[in-house]
Amino acid sequence: MSENKQDAQGLAMACKKMPKILEDILCLHDFELKARQKLPRPIFGYIAGAAEDNMSLDDNRTVFQDYRFITQVLTDVSQRHQKIELFGKTYNSPFGIAPMGLNALSTYRGDVVLAHTAQAANIVSIMSGSSLIPLEAVAKAAPNTWFQAYLPGDTSRILALLDRIKSAGYQTLVITVDIPVSANRENNVRSGFSTPLRPSLRLVWDGLTRLSWLFGTFFRTFMKHGMPHFENSFATRGAPILSAHVDRDFSARDHLNWEHFKQIRQYWQGQLVIKGILSVKDARLAKEMGADGIILSNHGGRQLDGATSPMRILPDVVQALGTDYPVMIDSGFRRGSDVLKAVALGAKMVFVGRPFNYAAAVAGDVGVAHAIHLLHDEVDRNMAMLGVNTCDELNPSMLIHRCSSN
Ligand SMILES: Cc1cc2nc3c(=O)[nH]c(=O)nc-3n(C[C@H](O)[C@H](O)[C@H](O)COP(=O)(O)O)c2cc1C
Repeated sequence: MSENKQDAQGLAMACKKMPKILEDILCLHDFELKARQKLPRPIFGYIAGAAEDNMSLDDNRTVFQDYRFITQVLTDVSQRHQKIELFGKTYNSPFGIAPMGLNALSTYRGDVVLAHTAQAANIVSIMSGSSLIPLEAVAKAAPNTWFQAYLPGDTSRILALLDRIKSAGYQTLVITVDIPVSANRENNVRSGFSTPLRPSLRLVWDGLTRLSWLFGTFFRTFMKHGMPHFENSFATRGAPILSAHVDRDFSARDHLNWEHFKQIRQYWQGQLVIKGILSVKDARLAKEMGADGIILSNHGGRQLDGATSPMRILPDVVQALGTDYPVMIDSGFRRGSDVLKAVALGAKMVFVGRPFNYAAAVAGDVGVAHAIHLLHDEVDRNMAMLGVNTCDELNPSMLIHRCSSN
């Protein structure tokens, strides 16, 4: 049996029995509508939304139109597999789950669901520091998970958090650096979303009109685990998720600079990744200062509106850093063909955000396994039609860029 078939079988097992709600979900795009139907309006809006006029959000999708594949035929692709090596580990696919905050608000035990299902499928998953479940609980459920931190611009608080992350057993730390200030997300204001959530009649109404979420996620969480808090922004517990008066502490994130990074590099012995880089200059700096890898990202269009799609700078960054250096990427990836375009341009790993969040909200671990399965199959089919057996065989000459003259 080919490795390819074994992978598919493993994933199918992870899928358990397909619930009815997933039967007409044929690609990652299809999860969005079901999540919109299931989640209260402010929570769906928080996940789906982006900053200001959605320029970056839209660019994250249109950029894929600029690339077309050149195929090769009669190459015997019967031995194909999509496994990749990263930081000394072998993963089943060149895609993983991006860190997303507040997963436990849209899905019961959302962070555990995502991390655990990703580990069962042997793909990378990154837990967000803006999460409502203690990082120790996720590390216990899925020890291979990477941890993403938002750091305060204050050395003593940074080091205390790093100690906690290390004690929990995380080996790969991702530092997100594209949030010096909170973004302008007008859509959150319009839909009534804030952190903490402010109790209001409108919020109650939003909950009452989504009963399966109300009982399956909200009440179930409160009954079993009490009021969720921001557990992992610092070494100690943060604000509750629901409060009329408490404010979240964003502790001088605008102070964070490369000097802090230098200290973090000296202190953190595991793999260290910087997420949110969007220039060749910063990519070079990250490598020189000892980052083990970078994630090119515009945060799914949720930070600086108008920031470029990371796909547009990927070729220059790979050229500057060399093809052996782990350049990873996210923002707007929805199809196996999107993943393969980035891999052909030199990305070592592609992260996907919103669709996995929706998949968890729609059907928990079975939903996430289904999403992984769909993307895995798209990558597999497209590799066969491209004429390659491994991700290593993909290279820029297999793409035509719309602006190129040939
Ligand atoms: C609901 C949501 C929450 C997010 N929270 C975080 C976070 O806590 N930390 C972080 O580094 N990125 C966060 N991101 C950004 C993602 O990690 C990722 O960069 C982005 O979602 C990728 O774009 P995509 O959703 O189009 O795939 C979040 C994204 C979403 C959609």
